[in-house]
Amino acid sequence: MANKLNEILSASGLYHVYESKAEDGNVVALRGLHVRVMEGEAVAIVGPSGSGKSTLLKCLGGLMKPSAGGVMLNQRMMARLTGNELVKLRQETVSFIFQDANLLNHLNALDNVAQPLRHQGVLPWEARKKAQKLLDRLGMGERSNGIPEELSGGEQQRVSIARALITKPKLILADEPTGALDPITSREILNIFKDLHKNEAVAFLVVTHNREVASFADRSLELRDGRFVAQHGTDVDIGDLTVSREIIIDETGTVTLPPDILAKIGGAGRFELPKLSKDIINFERVESDKIVIEEKGELVLSPNCPACRYDYGTGTLQMCPECGASRPMIKS
Ligand SMILES: Nc1ncnc2c1ncn2[C@@H]1O[C@H](COP(=O)(O)OP(=O)(O)OP(=O)(O)O)[C@@H](O)[C@H]1O
Ligand SMILES: [Mg+2]
Repeated sequence: MANKLNEILSASGLYHVYESKAEDGNVVALRGLHVRVMEGEAVAIVGPSGSGKSTLLKCLGGLMKPSAGGVMLNQRMMARLTGNELVKLRQETVSFIFQDANLLNHLNALDNVAQPLRHQGVLPWEARKKAQKLLDRLGMGERSNGIPEELSGGEQQRVSIARALITKPKLILADEPTGALDPITSREILNIFKDLHKNEAVAFLVVTHNREVASFADRSLELRDGRFVAQHGTDVDIGDLTVSREIIIDETGTVTLPPDILAKIGGAGRFELPKLSKDIINFERVESDKIVIEEKGELVLSPNCPACRYDYGTGTLQMCPECGASRPMIKS
């Protein structure tokens, strides 16, 4: 039996504003996001250009301080740490992979990979030995003396992955890791991710436009204008949505409302969509179904099912036996 999973990353109420003196003013890049990633979980972030994906990743990984909101990395609140503590926590927990390999140009592949260990004080020979082992594993064993400009894009990206892995992070934050690669190399990189996810329980938060990469994730979050607008996948946690007050519409068109919103709109029922346009929906309860809720009075169980009008009689059922809608409370 697996142990209870812990959160490797959790953030609440994340806002980020890029201050600007330019005419177009400040840019609000993140608008109150809640994110949770469990140990060993792979989550994709998708969304159009400018929606805040890179900003989110930087805030989550401690590369940038969000304007508001807190981030917990490996259950420690980043804002409460001193500079040194934060560096240590990041070194021990998280690695970044960027779209461009971001290697140090003057160092060869081996030393690029060994460098994060050197920062942790590991002796040079030991760091190099580990680096060589990782490069071997990623099929780059023969190229460890090459400097970045002598390597192809895919080779550079494999070096940057080795560099990300050498500290044995529990979480990898990757920003378009295959964006600069051809499809075959992308697939190789993806296979490395899958292997790490499956066999070493590394958690991933991956920004991607690539469908294959997104499908490797256990779920994906869709970002638009600094807000999550949808969550896709089999393992969707409704609890997250109750906090963030988002609504999911899945591929089959099923809408899921958080319970508090359902209560607020007067419970289950039939709704019309008076106007339809892209990206906006407006629900309006069908007139005959409206339950008049008086301001005063005690809350009692509704005598009828609001969805199919089933008569509950004197019973205390909580769910309609005819249509499965939950039974609302109404003012008596
Ligand atoms: N350093 C910055 N200064 C000011 N505005 C910025 C800065 N970086 C990003 N922005 C703005 O913040 C918003 C979100 O940018 P971000 O880079 O997070 O988007 P993204 O989803 O990663 O886009 P892409 O898919 O193009 O990489 C955009 O409107 C962008 O113009
Ligand atoms: Mg980006």
